[in-house]
Amino acid sequence: MLSNRLSDITPSYTISISSKINDLKSLGINIIDLSIGEPDFNVPRKAKLSGINSLNENLTKYDLVPGLKHLREEICKKLKLENDLDYSIDEIVVSSGAKHSITNTILALTNPEDEILIPTPYWVSYPQITKLLNCRPIFIETKKVNNFKITSDDILKNMTSKTKLIIINNPSNPTGSVYTKKELSEIVEICYNNNIYILADEIYEKICYNENFVSVASLNENAKFITITINGLSKSCAMTGLRIGYTASNKTIAKAITTIQGHLVSHPSLTSQYIAYEALKSCSDDIDNMVSIYKSRRDLICKKLNSINNIDYIYPDGAFYTFIYIGNLKRNIKYDTSLSIAFCNKLLDDYHVAVVPGIAFGMDEYIRISFACNESIFLEGLSRIENFINEIN
Ligand SMILES: Cc1ncc(COP(=O)(O)O)c(C=O)c1O
Repeated sequence: MLSNRLSDITPSYTISISSKINDLKSLGINIIDLSIGEPDFNVPRKAKLSGINSLNENLTKYDLVPGLKHLREEICKKLKLENDLDYSIDEIVVSSGAKHSITNTILALTNPEDEILIPTPYWVSYPQITKLLNCRPIFIETKKVNNFKITSDDILKNMTSKTKLIIINNPSNPTGSVYTKKELSEIVEICYNNNIYILADEIYEKICYNENFVSVASLNENAKFITITINGLSKSCAMTGLRIGYTASNKTIAKAITTIQGHLVSHPSLTSQYIAYEALKSCSDDIDNMVSIYKSRRDLICKKLNSINNIDYIYPDGAFYTFIYIGNLKRNIKYDTSLSIAFCNKLLDDYHVAVVPGIAFGMDEYIRISFACNESIFLEGLSRIENFINEIN
């Protein structure tokens, strides 16, 4: 018999989309895949070479649990230079991807039955990780007029004596919304006054198209004390498969995370850590180049969306997704339980375009499309979506 903790875990929508895409591809069908949440770029050359050199030098033995010392020093330099944050290396823990950093953090801070506030729409794994760790996800509804960002009032309405943590994803997957300094300051004040930690998932920090990005911990000393910043190189450096993420937190939390990681995985792959070190140290031009390409894609995709009748979406200031409203098509699509799944299945079957149903992010009246792909691909995808909408309208 399997563990009870699996009974409430929802199967991954993205995995079922991928298997459907593979089935269709094996029939020779050309699929436009706009469901992907990973960069279509390669790891910068200098970073790759650093990994290759480390292997040639046989740097393949066990090392420090919280990560290579010089990598953590480089992360501290980045936090100082880019976020005006002072951290020492014993406040940084490098893990196997941001997802692992999030899991470590929740393990370090919570007891069973503790509540974790999760604004909706959310990144797919937050509720599932929360439940796997025997905590309770408390979903906070957000409003379209506020670009689906939460306010301090929303926190006040949803917190209880069991609330331990809130997850703030900025810039957001799936909406691309970016919090302003004022919005974050209000959230910090409420959280600090009510002993609520902030898990600030800033994995899309670099992919931000306005000047607004502010790291939560940098707001003031109180913010720094209650915030565990999650970041990594998967998105900014196209290193998804190399699995490097990290946390920056106060020393007590960092020590707890280190203890947990030490028993579960020791440390992330050393080769990946050498690659991450070089990526942080000397690949900022490559990163800037990728971001400017994402920005031009964002402009293009929004221009195209603006020209399509009957389409409403969140204008993304960050990340590489657009979150599109399909609630107005409710009457035109047959569905039993989920509008967005029915929409996505029909779009894939009839027009061969793959997108992610909003229900995966907790909002069934939306779909998410990714522009982490070549512009000719997403423009073709959008044309097909337009034809699909025209057909069912
Ligand atoms: C908001 C968010 N956080 C965390 C992650 C996980 O990142 P990693 O691949 O570094 O584990 C993702 C990946 O899609 C994400 O979108």
